[in-house]
Amino acid sequence: MSEASRDFVPALGQNWLTPLYDLTIALTTREGRWRKLLLKAADPQPEDIILDIGCGTASFAILLKRSSPQTRVIGLDPDSEVLMIAKRKASEADADIEFVEAMGDAPPESVQQAGVTKITSSLVLHQVPLDGKRAIIGKAYDLLPSGGRLHIADFGEQRTKLMRFLFGAVQRLDGVEYTQPNADGILPEIMRESGFSPVEEANVVATLVGSISLYRAIKP
Ligand SMILES: C[S@@+](CC[C@H](N)C(=O)[O-])C[C@H]1O[C@@H](n2cnc3c(N)ncnc32)[C@H](O)[C@@H]1O
Repeated sequence: MSEASRDFVPALGQNWLTPLYDLTIALTTREGRWRKLLLKAADPQPEDIILDIGCGTASFAILLKRSSPQTRVIGLDPDSEVLMIAKRKASEADADIEFVEAMGDAPPESVQQAGVTKITSSLVLHQVPLDGKRAIIGKAYDLLPSGGRLHIADFGEQRTKLMRFLFGAVQRLDGVEYTQPNADGILPEIMRESGFSPVEEANVVATLVGSISLYRAIKP
């Protein structure tokens, strides 16, 4: 069995919902707001090589490429179906993005040797089991050079009753077991345990389905 065929939760929890992913995210997550913040934080430069882990339908990879056309952008995702949508969207947007089918903690040699300078990941870790969250963040640490940055946008600590209630919609789709550690605020802890320092939660965006945190972590 290839690494890419290990178990993963698809974009909206079920394969048959994947074609509805972009619309759902647009309608429920204040997508424009948090993607803009993530793009500003990642600050793509022409010399950067950026790996987007769990790129899904490539919405963020396309933004990276539009903002800095000379930046090499690699979108990695284990789901061949979502990658078909990603490739179509990238081609329609005339965005030259490299796509790789793999799990976030098991990138192929080509990615390991690429000289990645920054790593981004949006809305991925909340739907990954706890050991997978640790493995993906640990692998991101290994891939980055000293001074390299990891930028994550995902459902983080749900601090109010309202946000915890709204996040219930995500938990019904993706399951409580994988999502609850995020809601308890575990991501910055894992980043620190993996060696990143400093780690900061730069922004929190309240949405209709819970709050999305933007984290920035630097490899010392
Ligand atoms: C909710 S979607 C987010 C897609 C995209 N990053 C975005 O911002 O719209 C989560 C994606 O993570 C991928 N995924 C799930 N488990 C993964 C893993 N272990 N490693 C990498 N990607 C994974 C899924 O296939 C899915 O495309």
